[in-house]
Amino acid sequence: MDSIDESRVASSKQEKEKLWGGRFTGNTDPVMEAFNSSVHYDKRMWQADVQGSKAYVSAIENAGLVTKQERDAIRQGLDKIAEEWENNVFDIRPGDEDIHTANERRLKELIGPTAGKLHTGRSRNDQVSTDMRLWLRTALGELKTYVLDLIKVMINRAKQEMDVLMPGYTHLQRAQPIRWSHWLLSYAWMLRRDVERLTELSERVNILPLGSGALAGNPFAVDRGFLAKELGFIDVSGNSLDAVSDRDFVAEFLFWASMLGVHLSRWAEDLILYCSKEFGFITLSDAYSTGSSLMPQKKNADSLELIRGKAGRLFGKCSGFMMTLKGIPSTYNKDLQEDKESMFDTYDTLCGILKVSTGVLSTLQIHPEQMLAALSPDMLATDIAYYLVRKGVPFRQAHGLSGTCVAMAEKKQCLLSDLSLEDLKSISPCVESDIADLWNYENSVDQYSTYGGTGKASVIQQLQNLSAWLDGLH
Ligand code: ARG
Repeated sequence: MDSIDESRVASSKQEKEKLWGGRFTGNTDPVMEAFNSSVHYDKRMWQADVQGSKAYVSAIENAGLVTKQERDAIRQGLDKIAEEWENNVFDIRPGDEDIHTANERRLKELIGPTAGKLHTGRSRNDQVSTDMRLWLRTALGELKTYVLDLIKVMINRAKQEMDVLMPGYTHLQRAQPIRWSHWLLSYAWMLRRDVERLTELSERVNILPLGSGALAGNPFAVDRGFLAKELGFIDVSGNSLDAVSDRDFVAEFLFWASMLGVHLSRWAEDLILYCSKEFGFITLSDAYSTGSSLMPQKKNADSLELIRGKAGRLFGKCSGFMMTLKGIPSTYNKDLQEDKESMFDTYDTLCGILKVSTGVLSTLQIHPEQMLAALSPDMLATDIAYYLVRKGVPFRQAHGLSGTCVAMAEKKQCLLSDLSLEDLKSISPCVESDIADLWNYENSVDQYSTYGGTGKASVIQQLQNLSAWLDGLH
């Protein structure tokens, strides 16, 4: 036998050893092999895979499909596999298509033919979805902690820097004076909604598909309630056809991440503006800035630009995966293998975004005097209207009169606050000497004392509300 024949025999032997190799006679094209393989990334789920298999073997032992000894042998083998993964010594072989086949192949090497009983009634279709849900559940727990850390920094800064005033913007034009703390907390509320969405999403992740088999269900009366309990799921899926291809939980996670990314991209954009020379409201700590290789005077907000930029990547994964899901025929199709890279990348990206955001916010320095200097009396034009309203003038009319004041100041080329009492009285007889109190930014801000506004009383209420919500989470 020449060497070519020898290699043919060897590879067709390898082919037969594949878990699904029974009916195949030809060899897989190596290009196809690489194309089909997911083990280099889905190995991240090794722990979930071992955990799921350990529970499953107990369930099939309960159903009388394996003996107690066989169950124990399988469980010990699985523990050994976990140990190998843990210590980074698990040897991935060329035929290992994914984490499930890799672990089962290794189990057979470790304990012999008994390993072949583990998969009784199970399919990689219900297995992979179970693994992903287990993995994501842990990942969501971590992400939640990171979001909460960021919210806490927002709250703490808002408490400490309660009295700092700054311009509030609409259309990026100076609009009305607000509290810096109110700006800080505006993002805490967005993130709070993200945490609430996370909690709702977690419930849907926490449904067990195991026991659905390839598509038709489990023929061996495996107790799915037992499996759910063993693995900490809150319920079992109700339809096996749906269960093996349900990736709503992945799509939801990707959307959730995109929404969070969008919130933080807006937050980052605000801060990028605020740290520019034009605004000068804040200075980023050196730990989160970089220099220019060409212009020595520059300090760039790379951290924030990356946060802003990565929001695009997050939504890219979300929209891409929705396209993958669109139009797949009923039950499992290999298209679904595309779910994992999006899920892992999104998790990794978000971990980075959240940790850096917390770092940036907890170390940046604010410049209250610059913020104050950016306020100007014209930003109190609305306050003239409110003053007149308090004197009994209908708002529409008051708004018009305030506009006349603005026009007069422009004509006289003076500040709105420099118009004399006579000037103002000539516009409306309702104006009295107490109008002088109006040219005070603190007073202006504090009139917004209705809950949700930027007045001190309402910002304090906001803080109490957010803190109580945080306390209620633990
Ligand atoms: N690696 C596969 C995936 O991620 C596991 C499921 C394979 N199922 C199958 N019928 N080929 O989707």
